Formats: sequence, C-alpha cells, structure tokens
Amino acid sequence: MTTLTETPAWKALQAHFGEVKDLTLRDLFAADPTRGERLNAEGAGLYLDYSKHRITDETLRLLLALARERGVEARRDAMLRGEKINVTEGRAVLHTALRLPGGARVAVDGQDVVPDVHEVLGRMATFAQAVRSGEWRGHTGQPIRNIVNIGIGGSDLGPVMAYEALKHYAQRDLTVRFVSNVDGTDLTEKTRDLDPAQTLFVVSSKTFTTQETMANARSARAWLLAALGDEAAVARHFVAVSTNAQAVQKFGIDAANMFGFWDWVGGRYSLDSAIGLSLMIAVGPEHFRDLLAGFHDMDEHFAKAPLERNLPVLMALLGVWYGNFFGAQTLAVLPYDQYLAYFPAYLQQLDMESNGKSVTLGGERVDYQTGPVVWGQPGTNGQHAFYQLIHQGTKLIPCDFIGFCQTLNPLPLPDGGHHHDLLMANVFAQTEALAFGKTLAEVRAEGVPADLAPHKVFGGNRPTSTLLADRLTPRTLGALIALYEHKVFVQGAVWDINSFDQWGVELGKVLAGQIVGELGTPEPELAHDSSTNALIRRYRARR
Ligand code: F6P
Repeated sequence: MTTLTETPAWKALQAHFGEVKDLTLRDLFAADPTRGERLNAEGAGLYLDYSKHRITDETLRLLLALARERGVEARRDAMLRGEKINVTEGRAVLHTALRLPGGARVAVDGQDVVPDVHEVLGRMATFAQAVRSGEWRGHTGQPIRNIVNIGIGGSDLGPVMAYEALKHYAQRDLTVRFVSNVDGTDLTEKTRDLDPAQTLFVVSSKTFTTQETMANARSARAWLLAALGDEAAVARHFVAVSTNAQAVQKFGIDAANMFGFWDWVGGRYSLDSAIGLSLMIAVGPEHFRDLLAGFHDMDEHFAKAPLERNLPVLMALLGVWYGNFFGAQTLAVLPYDQYLAYFPAYLQQLDMESNGKSVTLGGERVDYQTGPVVWGQPGTNGQHAFYQLIHQGTKLIPCDFIGFCQTLNPLPLPDGGHHHDLLMANVFAQTEALAFGKTLAEVRAEGVPADLAPHKVFGGNRPTSTLLADRLTPRTLGALIALYEHKVFVQGAVWDINSFDQWGVELGKVLAGQIVGELGTPEPELAHDSSTNALIRRYRARR
C-alpha cells in the first residue's frame, strides 16, 4: 500500500488544512446558520452532532475521499466476511459474528461459526438462569449470591464496564464484583465480606495463562478451600471462560463448567462472547440478548450506511483530522451518565491497545501519528477537575460528549426542576462554551477591569462531538460500544496498521516473569541495567 502521506487524498487534505486551519467555529456557524441541523447523522438509536468541529463541507469530502482511497469499505467487508485480516497472528477478526442472529452465516476456514456462537449463548443462558434463580447450589447446598469475575484487560474491562452501565437492569440480590489486579489487595478487599459458601468465581481468560488472572484464581481457590475444606467444592464454585480447554482442565475446572470462545475474538472485543458471563448472570439472558442486538444494529449500520452518514466512519475521520493535521494527541470521552463511569477506561484498552502501533501492516515504520491517548470521566465531575485545561489550556483536546434524553433515575429537585435537566444542561453548555468561547471584547463589555479581562477570555474553537441517545438500555449500550469498535477499525484501516494484535504488551510480561524469581533471593547476580538492579536491590532489602 502506498504510504499514507504520499497518497493524493492525503496531499489534498494537507493543502486544504493550510487553508482552513485558522477558521473558527464562530466563523463557520455565522457563515451557515443551519450548520447545526445539517452536520449530524443517526444510526442504531444514536444521534451524532458533529457540527461543532473545525471542518467545512470540503474537509468532509476530502476525508471521505481518504477513507475510500485507503480501501476502508473493502477492508470492512473483508473483516465481516471472516477473512484473516489480523495478519500478524493469522486470525480472522469476527467479534461481529458474536452478535449475529441465529440463522445468519459466516465462515472461518470454511466452517460456519454462527451455530457454535448460539450453542455457547444457550449454555450461558441456562447457567445464568440457574444461578439467578438459586437453583445452582454451592458445595454446602446454599444458593450462590455472590459472583466474582477474575480476569484482566478485555476479560475484565468489558464485563465491569457493562455491569456498571447496566446496573439498573441487574438482579439486586446478587453481589457482583470484578478482580483484576495482581495486587493482593484487589482479591482481599473484594472477598473480605463474602461468604465462600455462597460465592461463585468466574475465571475469565482467553488464554488461561495470564499471570495476574492465574495468580488471582489460585488464591481464590485457596480462599474457598480454606473455608469449605474439600477439593470437590471447586466444581460448584468455579467456572471458566476461555479458549484454552486444556489449561482450564489443568487448573481443575471441569469441562462441563467451561464456556468457550474462539481465537477470532480479540480480548478487547470479547464482551459479547462468553466473557460476558458474569454480566449475563447479573442482568439476565434477555437483557444480554438485547445488548447483542444493539451491537448488531450498529454492525448493520456500519456495513450498510453510506460513508457520508456512517457514524463510526465520521467519528474516525474526525479523529484523523485532529490527530494527523492539527497534531492533537488525545481524545477526551465524557459520558454524562454515572452508569458509564467505566466507559472511558474500557475505551482506553479498545482504542489504545488496538491502534497504539507504529509499523504498517507491511512492517514499515509510520511517519504519521496513529492512535490517540484516550481519557475521560463522567460529567459533571470532570468539569470540576480537568475541564479548565480543555477550555483555557494550550492543548487542543477534541472531546466526545455522550448524553441521554431520558434518565433511568428521575429525581425531582425538592425546590423544582430535575437532576437530569441539570445534568444535560451541562452537556449543552459545555459544548457551546468550548465551541464559541468568550472574546476579550465580550468580557470587557461585562465591565471586567482591563487587568483581569485576559484571564476571563475563553478562546473557544475547541471541537466536540455530541452523541445523544434516548435512554441507556442494554440495546443502546451495545450500539455505543460497537460504534467505538468500528471507529477504531476505520482509523486502523486509514493508518494501515494492524488494530488486532498487541505485541507491545509482551516485553514487560516476559521481564516480569524473569524478575519475580529474582526478588526473593540474592541469587543469581542481577544482570539488568544499573537502575533496575538498584531498584531490585532496594526492594530486596526492605520487603
Ligand atoms: O494486555 C494484553 C492482553 O493480552 C489483552 O489483550 C487481553 O485482553 C488481556 O491481556 C487478558 O488476556 P486473557 O484474556 O488471555 O487473560
């Protein structure tokens, strides 16, 4: 593939950038009063307003030309067909198959995978129902009331994010917790008030070799056995979710208590596989199926909507515009919904593990920026922490605002009005303030003294997308997650990188495996660099 910066579309964008980079959102809105009604798109129950971006119609045309020139559509179709587009691991990338309705067909190596997907979903539903109803008993005959998911990365972030997001729909007499950190504090704190006789551990690991998860799973087993005193208890209190049946059996979990998935599901794309088991137990199979339907709605939109109105494509191209032309380094994701507290953390893995790459598919070093640093936290809390820098700092930070027209917790204010109106007023106010700011003349006109006035100026021209949905339902959540999955995909296609491997996490894992054996003993002689050696020696002396 021609290197990105040499393509005609890129060069055209570069020239165009020179012409429009100083245009302000004030100029753009003044020139076209209908801009806010024009620059939006809808799909899978989500409404995207992208009018508050530093783009003209020509910018959009050129960005779409770039997407076409980079073969985004052909690459998307190849992914959806099950081609092995994850070339460094020789794998298909088929998380979209996890949410296909029964009867659909998609093949990997000539084998239709949809029946297997539905077979596992069916087993998960039966098991989830049995736990929820109390029919599944622990070793002492008591019903399970506590679910502890043990996993990390994609085997944690998806389930914990979605559990928090869908708590409104959860069976509230179940306690659901997520242990990920190898820091013993995590397991200790999350189990300290639980009754082992009523606790089920869901060990979630695609590989079933991940150091943190295996350590936590072994310690959880020891915790259980210390209380119940019988190896046979493991069968009633441990289930596994993995692609590695051998390792699961070696750990001592019965094949009957294992829920499988496949190597064509990437860890950070695995929430809607059996990795979602703890979530399904919490919210029930029906809600889980609604979640999958939402993912599928967005998959359909991504596959079929013209690029001009395709939400993931538009969001991806806006990210390219800021990252590659304006030099923005980060993207703030700001959900105005407390239930979405973990959404930015989830997106960090989805986006940064996928597109944190610096060589092309062909192994050449890129000479352009790839994935952004993704960060954020729920509004309005962020407003009282880091928004100052977004409004008046020296960095350009594009932001995604996410809000819902209806709340799941209508709470009237005792003195009139509603919490939800207050919350949403902040969404609209922030994006307006970021876009249009307040000039020195406006500040002075308010009577602010000359020496204070510069401090009260808001430069504006800070770009934002606003995503609005009616209500946070399982279906909406599925669509929202799939939107970002496909956004990441489109950007990877434009940048010609492999969004589906993660070799960058390997070196640290290997070194940790080596160093852990060096911590408890003065032997062998340390052979690291002088900094690492000195740190290890200090730790050894004081541990
Ligand atoms: O961080 C690397 C990684 O491989 C992620 O991609 C993955 O989600 C996580 O580790 C956990 O892996 P596993 O599910 O195999 O335990």
